[in-house]
Amino acid sequence: MTELRFPAGFLWGTSTSPHQVEGNNANNDWWRWEQQPGRIRDASRSGDAAGWWAGAAEADLALAAAHHQSAHRLGVEWSRIEPHPGRFDEAAVDRYRAILTEARRLGLSTMVALNHFTLPLWAADAGAWTWRRLPARFESYARFCADRLGDLVDRWITFNEPGVLALAGYGARLWPPGLGRPDLMFAAMARMIMAHARARDAIRQRRPDAPVGLVFNMPLFEAHRPRHPLDRLAARLEDHAFNDLMLRALKTGTLPFPLARTPTRVRGLAGAFDFLGLNYYGRFASRFALMADTPISRHAQSPTTRTDWTDWGQPCPRGLTLQLLRLGKLGKPLFVTENGLFEDGDDRRPSFIVQHVRAVADAIALGADVRGYFFWTLVDNFEWAEGWSTPFGLFELDRDTGERRPRRSAHLYARICRDNGLSTETLDDFADALHDDTEG
Ligand code: BGC
Repeated sequence: MTELRFPAGFLWGTSTSPHQVEGNNANNDWWRWEQQPGRIRDASRSGDAAGWWAGAAEADLALAAAHHQSAHRLGVEWSRIEPHPGRFDEAAVDRYRAILTEARRLGLSTMVALNHFTLPLWAADAGAWTWRRLPARFESYARFCADRLGDLVDRWITFNEPGVLALAGYGARLWPPGLGRPDLMFAAMARMIMAHARARDAIRQRRPDAPVGLVFNMPLFEAHRPRHPLDRLAARLEDHAFNDLMLRALKTGTLPFPLARTPTRVRGLAGAFDFLGLNYYGRFASRFALMADTPISRHAQSPTTRTDWTDWGQPCPRGLTLQLLRLGKLGKPLFVTENGLFEDGDDRRPSFIVQHVRAVADAIALGADVRGYFFWTLVDNFEWAEGWSTPFGLFELDRDTGERRPRRSAHLYARICRDNGLSTETLDDFADALHDDTEG
């Protein structure tokens, strides 16, 4: 097979999020949630997480750089930076400056998210994303971060996966604030989109050249029975609610129903993003059913990656190509900001990586302007309501000793980063997996 090289300057990295790696984020809504019995599937807690706040960040970033990665996507934790409304913590700023400075020194381009699901307790107690004033608070936090960290940040992300947070925490009761109210799910999405526009504006006022984007998790929804009209309807509605509504709002500047009761124009929203990040894990096969996995469907994909609590869908590389092409129509640069697989060992992950990197190459060949790929994740970390039982890392974390052990995937991904794509050797090694990935 002929090698697949990516464009010069293409970024290769991994993604992390503050609450999942830092440890002891005791001042946010997730920490409080973890202390409540029954909230985390394996009853574990984030605890010290991967030890980043206490000092492990630098060594992990060095590991990434030594494995030929050229970028890292991380986040800053609002509850550390602004532990009380309007009171910012200089020590937290210093710690983030140290981490980001080290990333730069190691030659890693930095992509920094302002929000990756968590909220400071004061914001959670005021109503989380149902609180009308939260977008204004988010704006002031974004302005502060741009002022104090902006010289070390190459790209900003306002929100990671507003749709997932709205679904799990507002529509369902799986995550904080645990409301279980579909109407509030749409209200939360709307509020985060408005907060995004305000934050982007604030960052750009301080740093006119800083690219600011946001990240969507966009699974592929397809009819389980391809010709069945009700399955097709279910897939279309799920895609509309989960993938389409917020994109539409960003594109047109108007919140469509049901993000607002009647279509509502938001000042400064139309086109208010400089790039988009796509988090992609797989495909759902929607089979029409009332009040099953969703109000209108049961997810019937097979094989699937599902735990008792979370349905990540079926790995489906072709869906990554399709979603990149779809986002590409918005005319801005794209990044794959997450893509990965949980498993205890490392049997399927290597093929998964090669198949999905090829899917990105396909999207580029078909015209999508993809500038980077960030694997989820570098080192095993705290996986939200799943706790520690669903490891996603290139490196296995020994939680007793703190030791990082490379999985086979770590070496493979290093080779891909070094070669800026899939060499003939890599393609040959995975020829069978690449042949198989066309089904699904
Ligand atoms: C989230 C990550 C999470 C990953 C795997 C994404 O939805 O952004 O925080 O760990 O998926 O579930």
